[in-house]
Amino acid sequence: MLTEPNVLIVDLGSQLTLLIARSLRESGYRSVVLSPSKADMWMERHQPKAVILSGSGHGVHDVDAPQPPSNVIDAGIPILGICYGMQWLMKHLGGEVANDHEHVEYGPAGINIVDDGGLFSLIWKTQRVWASHGDSVLTVQEGTDILATAIDNDGSIRAVRHNERKWWGVQFHPEVPHTDGGAVMLENFVHGICGCEPDWEPADIVAGIRSEIASDPEVRAVLGFSGGVDSTTMAAILAPAMGDRLLGVCIDGGHLREGELEEVRRHADAAGIKLEIIDAEEEFLEALSGVTDAEEKRHIFKRIYLRLLKEAVAKFGATHVVQGTLATDEIESGATGGHLIKSHHNVGLDWEHLGELKPLSPFFKYEVRALAAELAMPESVVHREPFPGPGLFLRCFGDEITADRLELVRWADHQVREIIRKARDVPEISQLVIALCCVHTTGVKGDGRAYGPAVVVRAVHTTDFMTAEAVEFPREVRRLITGTLTRNHGVVRVWFDEVPKPPATTEFE
Ligand code: XMP
Repeated sequence: MLTEPNVLIVDLGSQLTLLIARSLRESGYRSVVLSPSKADMWMERHQPKAVILSGSGHGVHDVDAPQPPSNVIDAGIPILGICYGMQWLMKHLGGEVANDHEHVEYGPAGINIVDDGGLFSLIWKTQRVWASHGDSVLTVQEGTDILATAIDNDGSIRAVRHNERKWWGVQFHPEVPHTDGGAVMLENFVHGICGCEPDWEPADIVAGIRSEIASDPEVRAVLGFSGGVDSTTMAAILAPAMGDRLLGVCIDGGHLREGELEEVRRHADAAGIKLEIIDAEEEFLEALSGVTDAEEKRHIFKRIYLRLLKEAVAKFGATHVVQGTLATDEIESGATGGHLIKSHHNVGLDWEHLGELKPLSPFFKYEVRALAAELAMPESVVHREPFPGPGLFLRCFGDEITADRLELVRWADHQVREIIRKARDVPEISQLVIALCCVHTTGVKGDGRAYGPAVVVRAVHTTDFMTAEAVEFPREVRRLITGTLTRNHGVVRVWFDEVPKPPATTEFE
């Protein structure tokens, strides 16, 4: 039941990439969306049946043109290239790709299908599609069949297939609803051509996890519960089936935001899980005293988290520990092969004789949100902004963490959130990170010298948290934030961080 996805989507930098995953999911197929470097790592341990290369904001001739990893390209798995993805494949085979004004298309376009190619099975021979490209494939190498041409554009190439390499390409975007038959084309590829069977049915996934874990009456479990979408969804899946055999444990290490414990309790109630909150602020502060290195902080957090959870397990007489760990946590922690980006506290823990269950680990955030919605969780759960396990400990950087500094960053976070909540014209924010940069700078307040830290305000918009754009606040909102925060005697400066991801990550540490 809880198998890995069969479809790998390599995100080459298009805003539409997640629409490919959504369209497939609506047809019943799971997929994993990864950047080229993450796809490279993922391929070391997985064998997908279908690969899709997304479009991109780049052109194939750009110096920094994104490259799909060679272990994906050369795996012998059928590949569908969309827009840039098709151009990249055709160029790779020796075809000519150029920025030719005659062939540019932005918006609705028409195609004539001249060869079904498997991709256009059950599709009308003339189609309205949606396209957005400056570059076009002008010629293809021998061995490549042309499957579709443009209606209005002197028959230029719009879809191709290379039989030997099992590569398909479309110049338009089948993932966009304005492409008639687009969902059928994607399904033709993953099912008809690649042989994937439907594997996304939220109700089945919920039932599968319940029967795997909850049906055994000997299983008693403690669930690490943060009130976030992952652990709350995990609780909502298991609690109805396990009842008293399940206990949620939330660790309050002094790293939570204002009002967060109340929200944790509300979310536990919504999921129907019994909750215990462990107050461990002193212990965390003592262990973190003098520590400034990001990975060291993460390791200390992980060590204490493990010990406290083990104690809770022993007290409850649990046989298992359940965590809401996701695929991305494992990937970033290097647990699936490849590089460590950062150590997540919920990956690679040594539970000794205890059973560890991570039923959500094949899934991605957007899928877990869909499961939460399926389970009728409140909006505050379904759309909850991610907040890293070590929380405010990662949002206090440049010097050691102290109770006062945590208090200051918690206060600043609350102030900024309130300003944004009331403000108009603030673009959509996927995650807001308010951090305290503990490097002191000089200022003047009243008549006196001030020497203190800065608050850094960073808001990002993203669909998958693999890449993100910085959100720019309107000038008035920036002024209000700056004025409000610097009224606190402990804050000398306010910095707005508008660096996208990459190169910067969402969090500072
Ligand atoms: P970055 O900073 O890499 O973060 O852009 C991507 C997303 O992951 C969250 N994040 C974490 N989540 N434990 C978590 O559960 C962690 O240790 C952790 N570190 C980062 C981050 O907030 C963002 O949503």
